[in-house]
Amino acid sequence: MKSYTITFQPDDVKVRIAPNSTIMDAAQRAGIIINNVCGQAGTCQKCSVKISAQKEPVLACQYQIQQDLIVNIPERSRFYEQKILEQGISPQERIEPMISKHHLVIEETGLKNITDESRRLVDAIEQKINASARSAGVLSKYSFHESLRKQLPKKLSRYHHNVTAVCHEQHIIALEKGNTTERLLGVAVDIGTTTVVAQLVDLLSGKDLAVASRTNPQVRFGDDVISRIRFAETHQNHPQQLQHSIIDCINELIGQLCEKSNSPPKNIYELTATGNTTMQHLLLKVPVAQLAQAPYVTAFSGPVNTTAFELGIDIHPEGNIYVMPLVASHVGGDTVAVALATGMRYSDKNHLALDIGTNGELIMGNKDRLAACSTAAGPAFEGARIEHGMRAAGGAIERVNIDDDVEIFVIDGGPPTGICGSGLIDAVAELLKLGIIDKTGRLLNQKELPAQINQKIKQRMLQKDGNPVFILTPAPQTSNGPNIGLTQKDIREVQLAKAAIRAGMTILMNHLHIEWSDVERIYLAGAFGNYIDPASAQRIGLLPRVERSKIMPVGNAAGVGVRQVLLARSARRRAEKLAREIEYVELAGQTEFEKLFSENIYFPEE
Ligand code: FES
Repeated sequence: MKSYTITFQPDDVKVRIAPNSTIMDAAQRAGIIINNVCGQAGTCQKCSVKISAQKEPVLACQYQIQQDLIVNIPERSRFYEQKILEQGISPQERIEPMISKHHLVIEETGLKNITDESRRLVDAIEQKINASARSAGVLSKYSFHESLRKQLPKKLSRYHHNVTAVCHEQHIIALEKGNTTERLLGVAVDIGTTTVVAQLVDLLSGKDLAVASRTNPQVRFGDDVISRIRFAETHQNHPQQLQHSIIDCINELIGQLCEKSNSPPKNIYELTATGNTTMQHLLLKVPVAQLAQAPYVTAFSGPVNTTAFELGIDIHPEGNIYVMPLVASHVGGDTVAVALATGMRYSDKNHLALDIGTNGELIMGNKDRLAACSTAAGPAFEGARIEHGMRAAGGAIERVNIDDDVEIFVIDGGPPTGICGSGLIDAVAELLKLGIIDKTGRLLNQKELPAQINQKIKQRMLQKDGNPVFILTPAPQTSNGPNIGLTQKDIREVQLAKAAIRAGMTILMNHLHIEWSDVERIYLAGAFGNYIDPASAQRIGLLPRVERSKIMPVGNAAGVGVRQVLLARSARRRAEKLAREIEYVELAGQTEFEKLFSENIYFPEE
């Protein structure tokens, strides 16, 4: 079959590919990830590449290969590993895992003892476990997995009746030789749309043994959930491809955790997983099309228990996989995990937790009531739809100060490649402070700038295609691209995103009949919340003007919550109760939302 050679530069990697494949396909085959913000719809322009012998750049997702090509991928079109947030708050939890181990020495059969093997094993466990419970009259009933029951006589005799029974609740899932009660590990996984974080935990001591993280490999099928849902729908094999890709990723992380802690995977008996609703559906290969269409119905909402063998996860094959319960199509297990980790359900005072990504997930309330919603904030804070926007990866401007001149801070140092969400919020806040952006969001042109603005700053106001642009970093000081600046369109994107989030907050407050003065704490969850400057977020109106001490970044709170349900059965019960009790407020089509959205478009007065 005919094929063409594509050479990627500056990587100097060659691949052969069939005619009519796209450059994006070829890059994937070469192991290079190009930005894929719009799910290859050809609308985001973030995948532009240069091909030799052609002056104008082309879109990698649209260009069909008809000949050998040399393709140059600029820095700004590459998908870089995001700055991953592994840590979070650390609530105290009693150690009471669902998995337990019991060392048993079972009397051998003889003519005087002809009770069947499984009965004697169950009796031995029940005797041991119920010794203390018996006085309270609470006796547990244990059962076997059928395949284990069949192997029982052989195993007991091979292990000389000296065994350790591994139980998940009252279900005996494995029988091991001798006393292995010292070895009981679990893994908690937070599956983000962009990043996946896994923690290895000793289920006996509650000690964290290792943490590993990486970019969610599903990004090559689309940066956000909508693109992935679209991808899943376009071919019958795609859901499987998406599932395999996340399972391979989890297995890779488990491999790293085991290597770091010097533990074999067979000592891991449970894995708990959380993520947004789409990530959880994709993990279980449950159809996702309905999640993107009104009335946005989920295929499941309760917790899911399955085995490692069923899902292909590399821990003990009979190990349990617990996928957290979710609330609705746009409020997933990760939001439940955030609510659990922050303990907001147990507070007399009202708390708000927000996790801002492509959607802004908000949860608000106190011990009596909690309500949650998801606002379509758009991907501006993730760097998408922003002319020089990028994720919070190396080379991104993450902080901006503007006084006599512009001062920028770049992730990992060096010249900048673009600007990420936290830098964007700072830049807009600083330009508002100087009056370079007015409260309607209009970027003034050079002639309109306030008189007190110095010449150095004034010179940064340029025109591009007849529109003003404020230059943060001139071309010679960037990594290899043009000027990095802020355009009028970028500012509008910020306004749309913050208006959606603030409208969502107000709707939740109205739903709960509370006001800002009733809110004692605002938790900022996730990477974005951790890195933004609360003062800048307040200046642009993304966060309300409450006392700064009320605003608290809580890091990877979803990761903390999924670890809690791994360690403690009581936390698992609380999470399941939370998922049932959180009142979901659907914003789509609400006229009140439209009204509040328009009211919040402008920036607040200083
Ligand atoms: S335009 Fe190519 S991925 Fe968006």
